[in-house]
Amino acid sequence: MTAPTPAVRERALSLRAEELPAYIYDLGALRAHMAEVRAALPERVELYYAAKANPEPEILAALRPYVDGYEVSSGGELAHVGKAVPDAPLAFGGPGKTPKEITQALEIGVRRFHVESVYELHMLAGLAADLAPERRIAVLARFNLPVDDGSLDGSSLAMGGRPTPFGLDPEQADEVVALLTDGTYPNLELVGVHAHLASGLEAPEQLAVSEAIVTWAAQLAWRHRVGLSEVTIGGGMAVDYAAPERRFDWPAYGAGLARLAAAHPALTLRIEPGRALTAYCGWYATEVLDVKHSHGEEFAVVRGGTHHLRTPATKGHDQPCTVLRSDEPWPHPWPRSAARGDRVTVTGQLCTPKDVLSRDVPAPGLRSGDRVVFGVAGAYAWNISHHDFLMHPHPEFHFLDSAGGVEGSAGGVDGAGEVALGAVEGVVSGTAEDVVVGRAERVHGRGERLLGMVEDG
Ligand SMILES: Cc1ncc(COP(=O)(O)O)c(C=O)c1O
Repeated sequence: MTAPTPAVRERALSLRAEELPAYIYDLGALRAHMAEVRAALPERVELYYAAKANPEPEILAALRPYVDGYEVSSGGELAHVGKAVPDAPLAFGGPGKTPKEITQALEIGVRRFHVESVYELHMLAGLAADLAPERRIAVLARFNLPVDDGSLDGSSLAMGGRPTPFGLDPEQADEVVALLTDGTYPNLELVGVHAHLASGLEAPEQLAVSEAIVTWAAQLAWRHRVGLSEVTIGGGMAVDYAAPERRFDWPAYGAGLARLAAAHPALTLRIEPGRALTAYCGWYATEVLDVKHSHGEEFAVVRGGTHHLRTPATKGHDQPCTVLRSDEPWPHPWPRSAARGDRVTVTGQLCTPKDVLSRDVPAPGLRSGDRVVFGVAGAYAWNISHHDFLMHPHPEFHFLDSAGGVEGSAGGVDGAGEVALGAVEGVVSGTAEDVVVGRAERVHGRGERLLGMVEDG
């Protein structure tokens, strides 16, 4: 969904200019989307949310009824996710884990470690022997597997199938399996294989990659005569920023996973998407400050920019957006700037030509004071941005919740209607204080307003 939902639209128009830019999330829309995703997946497939996509506590909590756990990739994410969704199963992945992070993970009882190298395996074994000698720690060895059929070619971000710092080389498999099964490290248990080879794959490519990973893992188990009970096949489900109304084909992917699961009845399959789960529930709303004419082109300069919404700069796309005309009378004595033509390039306030949010936006007559709301801003947006470059104020954050969205989404989860509804109420009452305490300190003078927003959401 690119166009703002009615609740988001209303909020974007009702905020005062000084309250913009703002990230506005529609948690009802998130729940409805998650119910569809979950309904498309076979029961035997576990769904972990890759928290790096968007770790806002309200988002993590809203996802809880729909996910089996969370994938975290740093000590910071471990602590943060552990606090936002206590007791949720966590899998700890990511390259370059430090001894301190592994210690932290062992202390909080992380369920699974995605081990990325032989060095890391030795470190984990040493720390586990010291800190948790009475436990067996579940290990999934992450492999960077070659996929020869071209399935990774369309990927926007390949992390495997070619030289990268991620995971183990397949040639290291025998050494790793031996270390984990020959008694060298008795308190580590090899439960399976992990792979995350690419982001931005459509359902057919995802299925081909999933099948290649599972087949490789099954052969590894057979070769070593070991039982592997889990294969995590990563995330990377495509989000098409150029055609955001076209969603990843979860039903086709789910049907393919069901076939794969049936072919491997002893295996738990697990996926860990991020972007395709939360991208569509977030909007970055802002105000047009100035409309300028430059060498035959028109530019709308908005409050904020790519230091808040870095996604279009990192991925090199035009961020989908909707222009909302402001009906407020022009409050200033100076003339309002306005577009003469039909199309504008929307840029931010940074002193760099790279601060482009969207090009060629149809916006006839766009004026200063109008609003622009960027969609598909719920993943890898604020949290990957360089917030303090040029020291502009940070945006406000609004988490809207529509009862309609809640009821709609609850229906899609098998027998989970009450659970979902209960969780929603928990989210709203449980996070109000967090939001005020957490954000009021960071965002000057915004505590009360945030409390109001959460309560009336
Ligand atoms: C190990 C791992 N799992 C899952 C993800 C989530 O990928 P996406 O957000 O593209 O679904 C990532 C993203 O980088 C990752 O590195």
